[in-house]
Amino acid sequence: MSPDQPQEILPRQRVLSGMRPTGALHLGHYHGALKNWVQLQKSHDCFFFVADWHALTTQYRDSSDRGNIERNVYDMVVDWLAAGIDPEQATLFIQSRMPEHAELFTLLAMSTPSSWLERIPSYKDQIDKNRELATYGFLGYPLLQAADILIYKAALVPVGEDQTAHVEVTREVARRFNRIYSPEQAILPEPQELLTDTARLTGLDGQKMSKSNGNAIAMRDAPAIVEEKIRTMPTDPQRVRRSDAGDPTRCPVWPLHQVYSNPDVLSWAEQGCRSAGIGCLDCKQPLIEAIQKEQAPWRERANEYLANPKQVQWIVEVGTERARAVARKTLREVRSAIGLSY
Ligand code: TRP
Ligand code: SF4
Repeated sequence: MSPDQPQEILPRQRVLSGMRPTGALHLGHYHGALKNWVQLQKSHDCFFFVADWHALTTQYRDSSDRGNIERNVYDMVVDWLAAGIDPEQATLFIQSRMPEHAELFTLLAMSTPSSWLERIPSYKDQIDKNRELATYGFLGYPLLQAADILIYKAALVPVGEDQTAHVEVTREVARRFNRIYSPEQAILPEPQELLTDTARLTGLDGQKMSKSNGNAIAMRDAPAIVEEKIRTMPTDPQRVRRSDAGDPTRCPVWPLHQVYSNPDVLSWAEQGCRSAGIGCLDCKQPLIEAIQKEQAPWRERANEYLANPKQVQWIVEVGTERARAVARKTLREVRSAIGLSY
């Protein structure tokens, strides 16, 4: 394409990302990933999917985990939509509805050395900790992820720090495939990770916010619950009485303030804390209000979708078929490069 052609006619770069179905999402998911997805959908051709097979690589046994999968999938999709993911702009789908990923996974498995998967840093640690993970499926986790990405020829993969090794192995898998089967013209482009720049949100106890740490505020927590959770948060342990001066850097409330409060509120809180001019409940009040305000539009959208579950199913249905058209096209090229187009 010549450089003087207008920008708008360039095809939008494809972005692909997946999340395991953990159920209702919390503020950490929003600030760590979803917020970024909502921005990306405006400028890129975004494919976002529920990685339910990936959830099964670690939770294949316990029947209550499996029993909850369906609810977790739909709760998560509702939260994506609530956060502002727009099904008109982005393609939303469910991995297990796409057997095409499994076919590419199988074909890529033929040329991928198992040592590449065995040496992924987290792999050995995890199987040493938990023998139940010594499965073929768990070893194949990053290769399945590579298939998820390569089948859409994604240019960019927004992920957290913990996933960069998987995107890196995806590039190696693509390079080797291209070298062996399509040396003239690479079929599978090498994707780049798009690291989410927000540091992980801290939770109610100052540790990383996560459901399993029990320190999370859900995107859909009711206003009264948010108020209760923040009011009972521990503060600077050295600020025992209202008259004691405190230090925000010792306080688990402070990192949340830094995400939610503007510079004026921050300096009011910091000065008030250090001079004992304000109490901790005073300090927490603007934070409570900021979170409640952020949640209000989410709750409104979520309620509409919850009242109309068929609409959510339909959105996923349409997304799945849109994804399938792209996946099939890549698979045709892959099959023919290998010599399987009979
Ligand atoms: N492994 C990712 C996670 O746990 C989820 C995932 C599966 C994914 N396939 C993907 C992310 C493809 C990005 C691209 O977070
Ligand atoms: Fe924490 Fe605010 Fe209390 Fe200081 S005033 S200890 S920053 S809650």
